[in-house]
Amino acid sequence: MPEMRVLMANIDKPNQCNIDTYERNGGYQAIRKAISKIMPADLIEMVKQAGLRGRGGAGFVTGVKWGFIPKDPSLAKYLVCNCDESEPGTFKDRLLIEKDPHQLIEGIILSSYAIGAKQAFIYSRGEFYGGIAQLAAAVNEAKKRGYLGNKILGTDFSLEIVVHPGAGAYIAGEETALLNSLEGYRATPRLKPPFPAIAGLYGKPTIINNVETLCNVVHIVNNGVEWYQKIGKPKNTGTKIFQLSGQLQKPGCYEFPLGVTLREVLDNAGGMLPGRTFKACYPGGSSCALLTANDLDISMDFETLSARKSALGTASIIVMDDTADMVKVANRLMQFYQNESCGKCTPCREGTRWMVQVLSRIEAGGGTFDDLDVINNVCGHMEANSFCPLAAGAAPPVVSALKEFRGEFEAYVRKNPKAEQRSEMKVCYPYL
Ligand SMILES: Cc1cc2nc3c(=O)[nH]c(=O)nc-3n(C[C@H](O)[C@H](O)[C@H](O)COP(=O)(O)O)c2cc1C
Ligand code: SF4
Repeated sequence: MPEMRVLMANIDKPNQCNIDTYERNGGYQAIRKAISKIMPADLIEMVKQAGLRGRGGAGFVTGVKWGFIPKDPSLAKYLVCNCDESEPGTFKDRLLIEKDPHQLIEGIILSSYAIGAKQAFIYSRGEFYGGIAQLAAAVNEAKKRGYLGNKILGTDFSLEIVVHPGAGAYIAGEETALLNSLEGYRATPRLKPPFPAIAGLYGKPTIINNVETLCNVVHIVNNGVEWYQKIGKPKNTGTKIFQLSGQLQKPGCYEFPLGVTLREVLDNAGGMLPGRTFKACYPGGSSCALLTANDLDISMDFETLSARKSALGTASIIVMDDTADMVKVANRLMQFYQNESCGKCTPCREGTRWMVQVLSRIEAGGGTFDDLDVINNVCGHMEANSFCPLAAGAAPPVVSALKEFRGEFEAYVRKNPKAEQRSEMKVCYPYL
């Protein structure tokens, strides 16, 4: 299957960040169409009917989420664009803000109009210096053209956008931790419910959406619901930007309709390096179970990957070939989660640290067979008992590596002369 570029259609065009070029390439037409002719409630319904699902990882239906916002016009409401993008393997939002920032601004204006927000924020990963500068310049340009500010295009709708750089933490991408950070507090997750749509930023109704999700809204308005529904598969409509990294010929961003097979995506990225074979990949960023060579023809969509006990997540495919050492991969990923744990709850704070100790011991040749059971056991508790999804995402990449490539872990353990198998520890990991 060839690429189908919708969100990425203009990213290689010269000067696309400039508002004149953006307009020349069809930009800001969706706003003209929507704010004079489509009522906010109808726009929410359009996005719902189109079937757009959030591109930030969880895949929640966007129009349904927007529908939770209270209708009371006297209540302040906020739209927050999540551009924290800090999970290993993810780099699509960076591309979108650096190469076509007005597309995102237009998506934010449309989405704010739909939910009745007069103030929007873009919370960006702090290290995206180039992207943040592009966004700030785009906001200024849009304001000068009358697409932002008071009485947009002469209507009663007004909107301001603030671009806010984060300070560098993976957990700040979790929506409630993001809200705390935006309010000036430490980025630790909040208890849900209440959900942000009811009590979010400053306690007010707030919608948080990913960059790619918001960009999709522009194309739904421009091309219509039916056009959008025809791309992809039922319940998995639209295109998705797949981010390919790892041991491949041509890593990078590729856009396909949802439902493309893993093999097709890998082929478009030039396939494996010369003389190497595909061993495994994490299909949806680092927080999911890995796929193996048996899964090459799997459909890359939310339902299929969830049925396979993995996840589409952000469609960030981290590819490993036959030279990859799965013990080292598991250890390296768990070190990331240990570093990024906010420390608020014990299963994650202690569990990730404990797992790094066990995996490092195995890697150093001092592990035991019991350690393999401990990995399954502790990861099971992390997944079941943690306060937020960070720790639930730390478990599957390691447990699936152990499940699919147990022989490699056992080979490391056998390097230890005292590695004899002893107890029969009760394993409580749901994936087994
Ligand atoms: C640890 C963690 C990190 C996250 N990082 C991001 C992120 O960088 N960008 C993002 O859009 N969503 C991220 N999410 C998901 C958000 O909590 C939220 O579901 C998403 O922003 C909703 O947008 P969507 O409905 O458009 O997908 C993260 C979740 C967790 C648990
Ligand atoms: S699981 Fe607990 S410690 Fe880990 S990031 Fe979430 S709240 Fe913080």
